[in-house]
Amino acid sequence: MLAWFDQHGRSDLPWQHPRTPYRVWLSEIMLQQTQVTVVCGYFDRFVTALPDLPALAAAPLDQVLALWSGLGYYARARNLHAAAKLCVERHDGELPRELDALMALPGIGRSTAGAILSQAWDDPAPILDGNVKRVLCRLFGIEGWPGAPAIEKQLWSIAERLLPRNRLADWTQAQMDFGATSCTRANPDCADCPLQDECTAYRQGRTSELPSPKPGKPLPQRATHMLIITDDAGRVLLQRRPPSGVWASLWSLPEHAELDEARRWFRRHVDGEFASARAMDELNHGFSHFRLRIRPSHIAAHGPRACVSDAPDMHWASRNELASLGLPAPVRKLLQRPDVFEDAEA
Ligand code: ADE
Ligand code: SF4
Repeated sequence: MLAWFDQHGRSDLPWQHPRTPYRVWLSEIMLQQTQVTVVCGYFDRFVTALPDLPALAAAPLDQVLALWSGLGYYARARNLHAAAKLCVERHDGELPRELDALMALPGIGRSTAGAILSQAWDDPAPILDGNVKRVLCRLFGIEGWPGAPAIEKQLWSIAERLLPRNRLADWTQAQMDFGATSCTRANPDCADCPLQDECTAYRQGRTSELPSPKPGKPLPQRATHMLIITDDAGRVLLQRRPPSGVWASLWSLPEHAELDEARRWFRRHVDGEFASARAMDELNHGFSHFRLRIRPSHIAAHGPRACVSDAPDMHWASRNELASLGLPAPVRKLLQRPDVFEDAEA
């Protein structure tokens, strides 16, 4: 992760030069609900007007709110101001270098406190923001909504265990940058990921199902037609997924949003009768960010390997071979239905 950071991480952020506790704290509060690109300009303006903690504590609230104007979520600015005053009262005008004392200040939760301790002093304090939760759930194959207290507790203990011996500031920034740019929610870049070999979600083809969604939250619904095309030799036609997006690069079934599209595709690629397609029971599958209703159809092709095209993204797989291929879980489930290979088995 640190090697990845040296190549791809962000080391030119304004609060990294110079990296003082006050500047780190201010940046973390601004970044709680606002993107880095937006924060940079506000940060520079803020520290020019109020360059250190005593200056912030002494400033009128109106000035703080004016400097915050445009960033939104103004409770953050009020808390920041109140926390600065408390630091003057309790900690000689400095930010305390201690987890509990930091968390006792308004606006600072455990993850923000960890981000401050590690970045300001290189102290071994873990962070666990939304990005880190997502990455850990995938890496370690953790089931359950990461906002649930039991899951969160488990994630904190993993985050603690993973702390390196040194470079703690870089470690914190590396995790944030990795989650924001590589292991993203909808489109993780697994192909170029240095953690690929160790990643449970990747190995199991479940990067789009982890982290688990919040229970009870209705997700957007999508639908797709999947074609289960078998030949006389008991093989099934697989198609490789595109290199990005859901199920990136996995072998899957030919899939189309509309049945008409599926028919045209079939005529171009397979020697058989689309009209003989037999609709099978639907299958619903939950991703972390949408639900997919799969409408499968079974079609027997004419003869063995009745594929008109020899496109590299297509493959006739025997039933035995399926076990060794990386297939999305619902596709595997479909292919295990008893009616798929019933009349094709040699
Ligand atoms: N979000 C919160 N803290 C951050 C940081 N230091 N860099 C990028 N994004 C962040
Ligand atoms: Fe994230 Fe993919 Fe890397 Fe796993 S392999 S950590 S899912 S980018």
